[in-house]
Amino acid sequence: MSLETAFPPTPHRRHGSNAGQPLTRRDGVLKVTGRATYAADNHPENMLYAVTAVSRIARGRVMTLDVDAALAHPGVVEVFTPANRPPLAHDPDEKMPPFGFRVEVLQDDRVRYAGQPIALVVAETLEAATEGAALLDPRYEIESVRTGLRNGDRFELEAVGVGSPARTAYGDVESGFEAAFHVIEADYATPAQYHNAMEPHAVVAEWDGDRVTLDMPNQALALSCASYAAFFGIPAENVLIRSPFLGGGFGSKAILNGPQILAILAARALDRPVKLVLTRAQMYGPVGHRGQTWQKLRIGADRDGRLTALHHQALCATSSFDEFMEPAASASLPLYASPAILSEHEGLRLDIGTPGPMRAPGEAPGSAALEVAMDEAAVACGMDPLAFRLANYAETEPGTGRPFSSKALRECYAEGARRFGWAGRPLEPRGMRDENGFLVGWGMGTALFHCPHFPAEARATLRADGTALVETSGADMGQGAWTALAQIAAEALGLDLDQVELHSGISNLPDGGIAGGSSHTASAGLALHNAGEDAIARLAALATTDPASPLFGAGNIGVVARSGRLHRRDDDGRSESYVDILARADLSEVVGTAKAARPADVEEAHAMYSHGAVFAEVKVDPDLCQIRVTRLVGAFAAGRIINPRLVRSQYFGGMIWGISFALQEEAITDRRTGRIMNANLAEYHVPVNADVLSLEAILVPEEDAYVNPLGVKGVGEIGVTGTVGAIANAVWHATGIRVRRFPIRIEDLLAR
Ligand code: MOS
Repeated sequence: MSLETAFPPTPHRRHGSNAGQPLTRRDGVLKVTGRATYAADNHPENMLYAVTAVSRIARGRVMTLDVDAALAHPGVVEVFTPANRPPLAHDPDEKMPPFGFRVEVLQDDRVRYAGQPIALVVAETLEAATEGAALLDPRYEIESVRTGLRNGDRFELEAVGVGSPARTAYGDVESGFEAAFHVIEADYATPAQYHNAMEPHAVVAEWDGDRVTLDMPNQALALSCASYAAFFGIPAENVLIRSPFLGGGFGSKAILNGPQILAILAARALDRPVKLVLTRAQMYGPVGHRGQTWQKLRIGADRDGRLTALHHQALCATSSFDEFMEPAASASLPLYASPAILSEHEGLRLDIGTPGPMRAPGEAPGSAALEVAMDEAAVACGMDPLAFRLANYAETEPGTGRPFSSKALRECYAEGARRFGWAGRPLEPRGMRDENGFLVGWGMGTALFHCPHFPAEARATLRADGTALVETSGADMGQGAWTALAQIAAEALGLDLDQVELHSGISNLPDGGIAGGSSHTASAGLALHNAGEDAIARLAALATTDPASPLFGAGNIGVVARSGRLHRRDDDGRSESYVDILARADLSEVVGTAKAARPADVEEAHAMYSHGAVFAEVKVDPDLCQIRVTRLVGAFAAGRIINPRLVRSQYFGGMIWGISFALQEEAITDRRTGRIMNANLAEYHVPVNADVLSLEAILVPEEDAYVNPLGVKGVGEIGVTGTVGAIANAVWHATGIRVRRFPIRIEDLLAR
């Protein structure tokens, strides 16, 4: 298997071949047979191993490191500390736009969070590097640590998330509350969560003069090349990133981090290839996480249950030295038709690693609080929660009044409710029990995710044998993007999927953009689609200008590409195969290229979102208060579905993450030391199969003529957004206890 990842043909014919078919992942067999190679599987000759030593304190200074002891260890080649760390061409404390973060690369002896790299030990073996790091025996000057709401430093913000305004006001909420008949007000809290991708962050770096090759999992190849180039003072084209497979990313592999930069620096300084793989524990710090939030929601409604005001405030944790705040309160802006909406964010500095984007950043914690608050407002109005949503969902984007590019939310509510069996749900809590006496509750939530579009480029080569090679540099984090992208390309080229080879996951291919923001299939897919059309247009030009072709005189727009042949549009019987056209032209290939971006005027004229509704059933043991999610039904509308099997799998992943958020996940910090106490997969709880009893995802048909020419919307992040609130609301419906702090625990129900 070459790193360029040429997929062998797979026998998909029985499904048909192209867009819309529920194909299995093209790389599935490679993965389950262990032949897919991940970054850390690479072992260039003469390679060294690097291990970071990390801080055990959360705030203060490193006073001493026993470098001599580490260097005396047989096998240890070098120890990098702030005293001898080679220079970088870019100041690591300067943010690099657009997604730049400050990184810890031994710039000084300051400790800014527990788990921060304080030295890098490089050795002939992993064992020697690990032992060398242990011998450093750091001594610290410890300062008091800021770990939470009570001792963090609050500050005002201009921007939240990746450059969104921290405060947005539509109308006047205070007059909205004065006009309200019912007002609810409540506080919600969401914990720190960590991406915990199965594959740890890793890099194998190999320099050749001023060129470097990096094997690393990476969600944003071109952007990362430019950033590494800036750090190392070389042209971007001198950085080659190979990222054929990712064992999950969830946002954490889209941004640069200190340990990887240090390993690349060590490889250059020592003039040998260097491998660095973070341990699970080391992933709790320098590689981002979902920051903690404390949110307040006020909702006003009139006598008929129509919103008069919606006020969402979020206090969001960030590190002491950088800013990434979950745009949690922004979740209240695009969904419900309140005449007045105010969304506000404030920052809280803690002695933690800087948070970063993590699957549905902002929307996940923000919609969790919003959907519980909407449930509370429905209860205050004496209305069924679904009826309350239907009375208040927005027909056009609140505030801006822009029409949605398309919106099947009403269908999502209807389909989800029908499939779940929502009708007949008692309004009052504690009204249902199962045959074993368990309390049964039903809850729902609205799901929403925006549809960004990143510029992308692609190349499509039709070859003399009638097959095609399509190329774009994007990454497949495991979601099956490469399968969906190949389906799009095959469709554009009028070929069977078996005839289309996709090269991806390496940065010297046309820029496939970012695998993030639930945008990758739409963005890279459109580039591939356009490149395919360009190749077909070039092929058509060859045929229609050649008197020997049955297509002579048809003109470029007069042909249709189907099953490896061009047909006259006005006379289907007159056709010629790609093979014959290329043979007569004496060409070995014809190459189409394309760039794809969303026109700004379309973007300005329409609000673009994927929509959905999630319905949850929980059962609660009345004595032990153990909570089980017994059923989840999600109905989602996300434009045209390229591969229903993979899309459903994305929805399932999001919904399972919703179970995790609602009931399990939380990184717990020791208030005395600022260290995370459960920095491992044994004590950081996520759902296992036994926690997921019944999942259903309904693909609600939707045509969107504006989002992009393919009509494809994102599916990666929306699943978590409705699910968390739905589960919390079901817990209330089962027990009558409103829990506003996530994850909901047994003791939250026992304490009453
Ligand atoms: Mo995602 S948090 O946009 O990788």
